[in-house]
Amino acid sequence: MPRVVIVSNRVADLRKKSQTGGLAVALADAMRERGGIWFGWSGETKEEAAPAVAETIGRVAAVSLPLSRREVEEYYLGYANSVLWPLFHYRLDLVDHRPNFLDTYAAVNRRFATELVPYLEEDDLVWVQDYHLMPLAARLRELGCRNRIGFFLHIPFPPPDMLAATSNHREMVEWLLEFDLVGLQTSTDVGNLTRYLEEHMGLEEIGGAYRHGSRQVRVERFPIGIDPVGFAAMAREEPDDVAIDLMRRKLLGQRQIIGVDRLDYSKGLPERLRAYGRLLVQHPEYERVVSFLQIAPPTREDVDAYAEIRLELEALAGSINGRFAEFNWTPIRYIHRPVSREKLAPLLRASDVGFVTPLRDGMNLVAKEYVAAQDVEDPGVLVLSRFAGAAEELDAALLVNPYDVDEMSRRLHQALEMPLAERRRRHEELLEKVMRQNATAWLESFLEVLERPDGNQEAGT
Ligand code: G6P
Repeated sequence: MPRVVIVSNRVADLRKKSQTGGLAVALADAMRERGGIWFGWSGETKEEAAPAVAETIGRVAAVSLPLSRREVEEYYLGYANSVLWPLFHYRLDLVDHRPNFLDTYAAVNRRFATELVPYLEEDDLVWVQDYHLMPLAARLRELGCRNRIGFFLHIPFPPPDMLAATSNHREMVEWLLEFDLVGLQTSTDVGNLTRYLEEHMGLEEIGGAYRHGSRQVRVERFPIGIDPVGFAAMAREEPDDVAIDLMRRKLLGQRQIIGVDRLDYSKGLPERLRAYGRLLVQHPEYERVVSFLQIAPPTREDVDAYAEIRLELEALAGSINGRFAEFNWTPIRYIHRPVSREKLAPLLRASDVGFVTPLRDGMNLVAKEYVAAQDVEDPGVLVLSRFAGAAEELDAALLVNPYDVDEMSRRLHQALEMPLAERRRRHEELLEKVMRQNATAWLESFLEVLERPDGNQEAGT
């Protein structure tokens, strides 16, 4: 079996169990099972760029390099997170393109390719993750790399007309054509990319692949998953403070809605808080009974749009709490700090409603974690945005339009009042999907297609 070389912006610390962010969690789970090399940024910022260092942890060798301050500013915070992230999340209004961003993004990808090549063996399958590294196959090919190279985009792929609002849209898609396989989360994403290939580039699909020059590329959907069995086990292990809190709530007849997201403008947090506020206005009987726990750890704080969403959210949480709080009851508990997964899992289990309402999301693994964490005898209800990739599979959740505050508030009410039989029926259906499309299935199915022979080997490209 060929080795697998994963390349991603961040190499997660494999010794640490607690990670935030969908990519790190899914890959750490999957890599521990399979072994291989994981290559990427160490997360450190140095004054000057420095070479990669290798470290072996179990069956995985982590090879990582620090970035220079300038690279962090212009590649990571800049092009990746101030241009690609908002653009791919359908937020053209937040795209902040500045001089040097694209050049430094290209240069970091070139540096990754140069540093990676010495570690590669002939048969290795190279699997590149996410929007930070779209040009990597093109740069590896320039260095003579003939390995099979796959790409998986964890975030949405935007509709062609939206992509066309950037000046280098064609170049972006040409980067993708240097891979053997491009994996996306949903059929909407696949439709968006293939429409671009057909309508903007005049390419045609033949035998499941698009031909471009001497190469061909497959574009397919691989919805990412979690480790549901491991997560459920973690959810049953309540640390003392969680157990005490749950006991106190039971005693007082109190109930809890929960949200867990990096503090990102794509997550629909202000709309979500407003929906909860509206619930309290429309159902005064929930005052002192139904509280909302929103865990929103900080992320990419040096990007202006993130600083702005934080201020907005803090003002909103403050005003809803000011309006409804009692001396012995706080409606919204908003936590802007990382919370360990060991604590998150039982907290998800101990909540009556999982409230997951991104305005746009590649997949959203929290939705899947909420389902996996539930007590099957007495499960909570998932209220899920139609615009999360997860909605394509998890249609037994209560699906909502995350822009429609009224609808969200009605669905919260429905979730809180849902009879046990219906909760069980919906949960059973959701859990079946979360179990089937798990992280290992995702990884194996991607690699299976990547390994499948095609015309690229014959052409020797
Ligand atoms: C999303 C992206 C990942 C990223 C994660 C955390 O899930 O798809 O690629 O690693 O967010 O973001 P950060 O910028 O902290 O790496």
